[in-house]
Amino acid sequence: MAILSIPTQNYSTSNPKEILAFFNARGLFFDQWSCHVIFSDSATQEEILQAYSKDLKPFMENGGYETADVISINSLTENYDAIRSKFLAEHTHTEDEIRFFVDGQGIFWFNLETEPVFNLLCEKGDLISVPAGTKHWFDAGESNPFVKAIRIFIDMSGWVPHYTDSGIENEFKDFKINK
Ligand code: LAC
Ligand code: NI
Repeated sequence: MAILSIPTQNYSTSNPKEILAFFNARGLFFDQWSCHVIFSDSATQEEILQAYSKDLKPFMENGGYETADVISINSLTENYDAIRSKFLAEHTHTEDEIRFFVDGQGIFWFNLETEPVFNLLCEKGDLISVPAGTKHWFDAGESNPFVKAIRIFIDMSGWVPHYTDSGIENEFKDFKINK
């Protein structure tokens, strides 16, 4: 279940309706999908995509998205520190960044510039879209990362991060989720 936080305002909520309203008011997309399949550690990408096809197919058709795959990051992931630092610096993309959390968790940070930075902790069942051009960064944590997520996209070239080099993410590096 997602948690929305605005660190400079000491605000947080895990109420999906409030999160949805907050996101919609800003032209951002948030949804929750459920599925009753329990995946084994060795579940293949195809098994996972198939299990969510009821939600995934219409979403992709409506949005004109061409491809979906599954990424997995866990404590066995090699070079995790390097992977983490790539996502941890504020950046934008030329296409929407869409992630559905099959399992695990991570925090998406948003800098809309017209208001304080906020973040969304995404967990199992949460779907998020970061619109093209939106300044953001992502963190799966310093140690013991665990993310299993479906990535939905039009063209892989849209993934290239364009770094802003603002360093703003450093202002929030000590942030802890208020659970
Ligand atoms: C990315 C993230 C995680 O660009 O922001 O893949
Ligand atoms: Ni990104």
